[in-house]
Amino acid sequence: MNKTAKPVDTTTAETVPEHSVSEAPKTHPKRDRSAGLPTRFDPWLQLPQVPFDFLGQKPSRLPLVSAFRSSPTARAFDLLRTRLLHSLRDHGWKRVAITSPAAGGGTTFCGVNLALSLARVPGSRTVLMDMNFRRPGVAAALGIPAAGSMVDFLAGELSLPEQLCRLSDTLAVGTNRVSKQNASDILHAPSTAEVLDDMIEDCRAETVLFDLPPVLENDDVPAFLPQVDGVLLISDGDHTTAAELAACEKMLAGHAPLLGVVLNRAQQTDRTQVTP
Ligand SMILES: Nc1ncnc2c1ncn2[C@@H]1O[C@H](COP(=O)(O)OP(=O)(O)OP(=O)(O)O)[C@@H](O)[C@H]1O
Ligand SMILES: [Mg+2]
Repeated sequence: MNKTAKPVDTTTAETVPEHSVSEAPKTHPKRDRSAGLPTRFDPWLQLPQVPFDFLGQKPSRLPLVSAFRSSPTARAFDLLRTRLLHSLRDHGWKRVAITSPAAGGGTTFCGVNLALSLARVPGSRTVLMDMNFRRPGVAAALGIPAAGSMVDFLAGELSLPEQLCRLSDTLAVGTNRVSKQNASDILHAPSTAEVLDDMIEDCRAETVLFDLPPVLENDDVPAFLPQVDGVLLISDGDHTTAAELAACEKMLAGHAPLLGVVLNRAQQTDRTQVTP
């Protein structure tokens, strides 16, 4: 499949204003439309809730743009969210790998901010999974405690509530506190596919974002491609070269559709060529 979405440029978070009005996702009281009938068991509601600062008042490792709705960066993520949702809904897809050609390109920055943007869609359910075993970064980026070991979860040794937590009615996160170097072994394992299938079904997730290591560094991404519907490639405006992007596209070709190329740190350089 060669379905390709248009690339979306994100700007550097340095353009995010320091003071601005912010919004947190609204929590709606549950409406029971089946009065008198037993409520269907919903594992999503059993996930432990972790207090999360949607207002962006506490410092975190990464700039979280969701608190600054009117900034160009936040708008870029909202546009990326909308295009991505259209693309996913058109094809009945849910699973999106986020990766970049080389380390430090902004995969976690984009994954976390995209997840926060998706979480503002009322009534939706998004799961963000930290699948970068070598350098897990999602918990630190969000400023929340890292829960279990993702490797143990994928091996079926940890339950859903032991691995995932809920930041709101619309967003759950699978963090990882244990780094592991031979990650592609577990990504190939049949238990990984089964655990992820069960997770998506139990959570009734509409969108699942997987924060992955860089494409060109090791074989983790190729090992994981059978588990995803498409890939968002993050191009670092400071460092990514056209040759690196071409190498990534070649590696993905025939394995997973490229949903788009996101130009990160776009305003800092005009050196990067971006291909859709
Ligand atoms: N658009 C941006 N504006 C400002 N800072 C950014 C931006 N993108 C990334 N950064 C910063 O660059 C650093 C690396 O970003 P990030 O952790 O997202 O990269 P990564 O691709 O996930 O790295 P790794 O390969 O180690 O997982 C972080 O400190 C992050 O805050
Ligand atoms: Mg990362």
